[in-house]
Amino acid sequence: MADAAIGAVRQPHQTWSNWPTFILAVAGSAVGLGNIWKFPYITGENGGGAFVIVYLACIAIIGLPILTAEIMLGRRGRMSPVNSMIALARDANRSRYWGLLGVMMMLAAFLILSFYSVIAGWAIPYVGQALVGSFADATPDEIGGIFGGLLASPWQLLLWHTVFMALTVGVSGIGVKAGIERAVTILMPSLFIILAVLIIYNMMADASSFDKAVKFMFNPDFSKLTSEAILTAIGHAFFTLSIAGGAVFAYGSYLDSKASIGVTSVAIAGIDTLVALMAGLAIFPIVFANGLEAGSGPGLVFVTLPIAFGQMPGGQIIGTLFFVMLVFAAWTSSISMLEAIVEWLQERGLSRGKASATVAGSAWLLGLTTVLSLNLWKGFHPLGFIERFEGKTLFDLYDYLTANIMLPLGALLMAVFAGWIMTRASTEEELATSGPIYRVWYFLIRYVAPIGIGAIFIANLG
Ligand code: TRP
Repeated sequence: MADAAIGAVRQPHQTWSNWPTFILAVAGSAVGLGNIWKFPYITGENGGGAFVIVYLACIAIIGLPILTAEIMLGRRGRMSPVNSMIALARDANRSRYWGLLGVMMMLAAFLILSFYSVIAGWAIPYVGQALVGSFADATPDEIGGIFGGLLASPWQLLLWHTVFMALTVGVSGIGVKAGIERAVTILMPSLFIILAVLIIYNMMADASSFDKAVKFMFNPDFSKLTSEAILTAIGHAFFTLSIAGGAVFAYGSYLDSKASIGVTSVAIAGIDTLVALMAGLAIFPIVFANGLEAGSGPGLVFVTLPIAFGQMPGGQIIGTLFFVMLVFAAWTSSISMLEAIVEWLQERGLSRGKASATVAGSAWLLGLTTVLSLNLWKGFHPLGFIERFEGKTLFDLYDYLTANIMLPLGALLMAVFAGWIMTRASTEEELATSGPIYRVWYFLIRYVAPIGIGAIFIANLG
């Protein structure tokens, strides 16, 4: 009877070798282009310190509790997001339609993967360019030309998008233990070491620029904070923690029942935040040392940094390391974006290899529309008749739909499900605590997260 009241305990179809590997895998999902490419440039665009503080607060107050909820739902459901949500709703005697939340999360991951692979692909030729010294003594215009040339060429973009997707499916197709675990245990420590090398290099090469970067990132000037910056910070908190894309959900469904979800979530959010801040300390000192613009936008990593690599001693090595790191970070994330749908297809009887290839192949195909959005279809604005979407290419629309709608909506619904639909007894059981920390989580997930996210929606619509 007790079981019926709090829901069934299900068995996973497979499990991670151990708990630290799980943490590394989810951290690998979380740490990606979001940390190394996007976080520095949005910090630069939004004026530094004050934005960083708001971002940290969003991670702690909204991101972390929802990350905990997503891992919890995955582990309790023990299946792909859609089948888990159906099972969990049944446990709580609620509608099967909760399964649609699982479907939306899987779709979000699929859409993100389709363009993520194109952007991650940009970094691959940069490894080669940095290595052979293409940036050495090049003028800013010439380096801007390299980037512009890449984006203007559908064939080059297609090539690197294809290579990146092949890397992704190569790991995913082998399986959770032989593929994903092995990849993250090699790639994540390498990424961390490269990042540390870059930071130490910056400290030694030019202490005053390093100082300037630290002040820029950590001395808040709240007069620079706009309401748009706050929205950007919340949206990015979801993206960077891989929330509501089903990746964390699927990884959680393979987690051992004894592992503490609370400790796990804190570790993952901690690693993700640390890497974002470290990326800032790897990038901004170089920007300041060379008198470049911190607010230069998406080109920060692909144009601004190479200018600096081209001028500094050892820039060839430092630059190469940097882009290798970027590819590694994106790779462990893209692998995770496949997982929810792969898990679902496996539940439907497909083999692992076939499932990975099907999902990656379809995402690759859709990715072609992002490739074209950057050049031949630049002027194609399918929703241009709506004011809000004026001038937005297909790629811009995928980005908007996922970051501004699907991820926050998924996060909101997960918070409602964990806080209001599941019984308190079942969340207490799954999180293995009912103490003060549980009560803080329960309060955040029931009130703070839904109200916070609801507010973003309203602000976004207004
Ligand atoms: N968190 C990753 C990054 O910062 C992106 C990512 C991976 C993601 N998996 C996701 C985003 C699932 C949303 C949903 O680059």
